[in-house]
Amino acid sequence: TRTPVNVTVTGAAGQIGYALLFRIASGHLLGADVPVKLRLLEIPQGLKAAEGTAMELDDSAFPLLRGIEITDDPNVAFDGANVALLVGARPRTKGMERGDLLSANGGIFKPQGKAINDNAADDIKVLVVGNPANTNALIAQAAAPDVPAERFTAMTRLDHNRAISQLARKTGAAVSDIRRLTIWGNHSATQYPDIFHAEIAGKNAAETVNDEAWLADTFIPTVAKRGAAIIEARGASSAASAANAALDHVYTWVNGTAEGDWTSMGIPSDGSYGVPEGIISSFPVTTKDGVYEIVQGLDINDFSRARIDASVKELQEERDAVRELGLI
Ligand code: NAI
Repeated sequence: TRTPVNVTVTGAAGQIGYALLFRIASGHLLGADVPVKLRLLEIPQGLKAAEGTAMELDDSAFPLLRGIEITDDPNVAFDGANVALLVGARPRTKGMERGDLLSANGGIFKPQGKAINDNAADDIKVLVVGNPANTNALIAQAAAPDVPAERFTAMTRLDHNRAISQLARKTGAAVSDIRRLTIWGNHSATQYPDIFHAEIAGKNAAETVNDEAWLADTFIPTVAKRGAAIIEARGASSAASAANAALDHVYTWVNGTAEGDWTSMGIPSDGSYGVPEGIISSFPVTTKDGVYEIVQGLDINDFSRARIDASVKELQEERDAVRELGLI
């Protein structure tokens, strides 16, 4: 029998946490044969609700779930952690400036990065979901100098999945026929969903669609503004689809991309495609045996270049702002 994998989830009492924990416990994060131990990190006000969720996890009698610990101490939460899902974050409230938002989140992700540095297992893999996800991941990574930088990733898989779904709807294809889609840049309204290298049942997606106006005026804004559309419709931000994407992100990272396909992950740039080294930007990546690699050699046309550059510029500005605040 396998030793359980320690999975830490922050913001466990939140709405994504509620959609996420039951599926982690049923094997959708790592695989249907991998036992897990859960550590739930919450702020003191969230502990009671997290205990309620833990009661329901108990009541589900998941065969793979080998323990649940709830704490408000990051050093306890990340002790021996193999996978960390950083979901809890400080949302932007009315009248909040970007600097206020970044420093509020710095107050969360800097100590969590340090606690990961000091306590996590050697093979720790970190996914940051809490927004602004890319820059929060950068803050946590900077506070964890003993952990290889590439273990800190940010979630753009929800954007990736949204883009696949929109493309399938436009072309009448099945989502399972779509491969090689890419989200570039920041998990924000500047993100760029790229279909120029994507394939639909083996045929080039951009050629199949053959409609640049749809691409520029419908597809890209629909994907980029989908989060706001969900809030408008549901009266609450996306939770189940975000949890699903977090599971997809880690599952793919650990278990590998399919032959001939790739996925999108926010990862520290190595300078590929002119994205400045060190910023956490979304790229097309393949994964194998728990290691990801940026897909190299893609031709970037002018349409794509302008959009990638705009999103990367925003990431550089966010990095400069957190640098000025002393957060990295
Ligand atoms: P929520 O407000 O329902 O839950 C957040 C939870 O985090 C709360 O229970 C809160 O007590 C907890 N929390 C706050 N600070 C904490 C800390 N320092 N340590 C531990 N827990 C802490 O929010 P929801 O809907 O679950 O979303 C969580 C985050 O995910 C938000 O920042 C949201 O913007 C982001 N998000 C990111 C997406 C992406 O694609 N990257 C998609 C959807 C949401």
